[in-house]
Amino acid sequence: MQCCTVISDLHLRIAILVLALSGCFPVNVSAQTTPATIQFDSTSGVFRIDAADSTYVFGVNEVQGLQNLYWGGHLAASDHFATAHSLPEVSSFDPSLTVTPQEYVGWGGGLYVDPDLKITFPDGNRDLALKYVSNRIDGDSLSIVMKDISRDIYVTLNYQADGETGILRRSATVENRTGVPFTVEQIAAGTWSLPRGTDYRLRYLTGRWAGEWNVQERHIEPGKTVLESRRGTTGAQNNPWFAIDREGAGDQDQGEVWFGALGWSGSWQISVEQDQLQQVRVTGGPNAFDFAYLLKPHEKLTTPDFYGGYSSHGIGGASRLMHRYEIDSILPRHPAPNLRPVVYNSWEATGFDVNEAGQMALAEKAASIGVERFVMDDGWFGERKNDHSGLGDWYVNQQKFPHGLKPLIDKVHSLGMDFGLWVEPEMVNPNSDLYRKHPDWVLNFPGRPRTEGRNQLVLNLARPDVRAYVYSFLDKLLTENDIAFLKWDYNRNWSEPGWPAAASNSEKNVYVDFTNNFYSILVELRQKHPNVEIESCSGGGSRVDLGVMRYTDEVWPSDNTDAYDRLFIQNGFTYAYSPGVMAAWVTDSPTWVNSRSLSLEYRFLSSMQGALGIGANLNKWTNEDLDEARTMVAAYKSIRETVQRGSLYRLIAPENNSEQSVTETVSRDGKQAVTFAFLHSSRELYPFPLVQLRGLEENSTYTLSMIAGNVDDGTPITASGSYWMHHGLDLKLRGDFQALAFTLTRTK
Ligand code: GLA
Repeated sequence: MQCCTVISDLHLRIAILVLALSGCFPVNVSAQTTPATIQFDSTSGVFRIDAADSTYVFGVNEVQGLQNLYWGGHLAASDHFATAHSLPEVSSFDPSLTVTPQEYVGWGGGLYVDPDLKITFPDGNRDLALKYVSNRIDGDSLSIVMKDISRDIYVTLNYQADGETGILRRSATVENRTGVPFTVEQIAAGTWSLPRGTDYRLRYLTGRWAGEWNVQERHIEPGKTVLESRRGTTGAQNNPWFAIDREGAGDQDQGEVWFGALGWSGSWQISVEQDQLQQVRVTGGPNAFDFAYLLKPHEKLTTPDFYGGYSSHGIGGASRLMHRYEIDSILPRHPAPNLRPVVYNSWEATGFDVNEAGQMALAEKAASIGVERFVMDDGWFGERKNDHSGLGDWYVNQQKFPHGLKPLIDKVHSLGMDFGLWVEPEMVNPNSDLYRKHPDWVLNFPGRPRTEGRNQLVLNLARPDVRAYVYSFLDKLLTENDIAFLKWDYNRNWSEPGWPAAASNSEKNVYVDFTNNFYSILVELRQKHPNVEIESCSGGGSRVDLGVMRYTDEVWPSDNTDAYDRLFIQNGFTYAYSPGVMAAWVTDSPTWVNSRSLSLEYRFLSSMQGALGIGANLNKWTNEDLDEARTMVAAYKSIRETVQRGSLYRLIAPENNSEQSVTETVSRDGKQAVTFAFLHSSRELYPFPLVQLRGLEENSTYTLSMIAGNVDDGTPITASGSYWMHHGLDLKLRGDFQALAFTLTRTK
């Protein structure tokens, strides 16, 4: 595609249009290479951010507050915004401060909606009135300084706009220049304001262990909906992601959607509030429940990043923007993170019963079907026979591995795979040498019970000595062994979140310091061991968010590996997160989850929609199973780049008890489209719905090739994009738990 390579900035939009019309530029890649622009009109006091298909506008109003003016589709350069004016008092009960759409507001005056910042000063005063001071624009970044009307509290609002997706990244930094400590009691990264309206629908994600990623919908009513975790960590019960569209006006690929996600792996909250004037605001940051942060003189506190985006291509378009942004701007090694290798993991095969001979035997089988990474799960360390003991004692178990890990790692390498290992660094079993030596290292309130979960307690990573211990054992493990991958687990939530060793007025700093130390360990480890990859796992998908994804290469969405349940789990997951980070194993049938039996082909096709792995007991597989697996793994490698990096279309989402599920992914270069189709069960004589593809070029020619299963006999091998998108395909899917997959390759 030589004609598409270097284009000067000035005529970029025009050039892209011409190239698109001439068929040279793939339709999937829209005008995303136009850099974002940020402008400040000093006469009107209006800030305008244009990025990809969206425009975001706010201004300094007559009381020096920051007020949102617009968030939505891209506006013309000539469109002009007048100086912001705060809304007048509606009644004595509805003061101006409360009804005005605030960009970032302190709790003070008569503010009754969620504040972005609430502070208690040592003299008991709790009034905070932030006013605009100055701004700085640096390419696609904008920072704005605000200050309290009398105290030397400075708040810097940080904005970064992504020219490719239009996604804005926001955070706020509070700086204490008052000379005395004060307590931050609530802090948000910022507030998003939607165009005023009453027809909004909120989508969000809920779940539980082995049942994560359920897509929920609710009409936005007057009042407040709070999505949150009070668990010390992200949690599966809610995920820090939201999407809002206009009810009835959109579907998968059409209609306006405002969406966002919070990058924070500690307790968090996102409140969606519709006020008395039908203004919808979305505020996000660390959870205010039990929160306090003592900020000493000269110290700064920076919030997590809160990301927000706009799509006019429905919820599917919103997901595609998120996926693109995660791959290109969030993940380690962005904008070109490594593709996920095909993994084998022994957990479901062996449980805690790992040893050198058993792992070597599994490794041989795994290598024979094309696996690229062999991961040994729980059970290799300390006195770890079951989940009652050993966590915290990170030495290799001598009975299971008499010669250390080296012989196994060498064997795995000799088979052409790299080696990965399970760890759960922030946890300790009371039955461990570590706990016997340092009972004070866990979160606890003195004299109170220490509630166990899975027989374990949470180490207080906010403590410098705990942080040092965790870093040093991981560093030693990675220095002494040739390890390519860590599966970093976290198998419970917090309880009794006390930090007795801290001064009583800073004990609650644990909510921020724990999570920041977690991140800093990941950063330091990655710096020292740059080739190591890391997975974020938390008993499944309890720690998946854009915060941890900056430092981890993939995530484990759920311990539920039933291939049918996974269709729902994976569907919900991809509303917010890319299939390119979504580990998905093929496991044994019937499954431990619900005793369901599924064919090996079905199980493979379900997992091939993400980052394929194998988690079955390969010792039980027949030669035919291994042959079939070899074929499927090879097929996966030929579509992996499309699945992990492409544009995902939910042709039939497995929601509302749908009998079918169909996904299609179009590669970034537009040359390949991969479709997976699943049938739960046929009814009467109804055929499978016609599948009309999306995202192809109308006038290009594509050739059909089956990965598994069959289409109707009359289906052409080669046809135009228009044919596949408008006429569609008849799939031969009948019976119970049937599946097929095919590719379309652009040939002309
Ligand atoms: C968690 C993980 C599993 C497995 C076990 C090991 O439940 O989600 O995949 O690693 O821990 O104890």
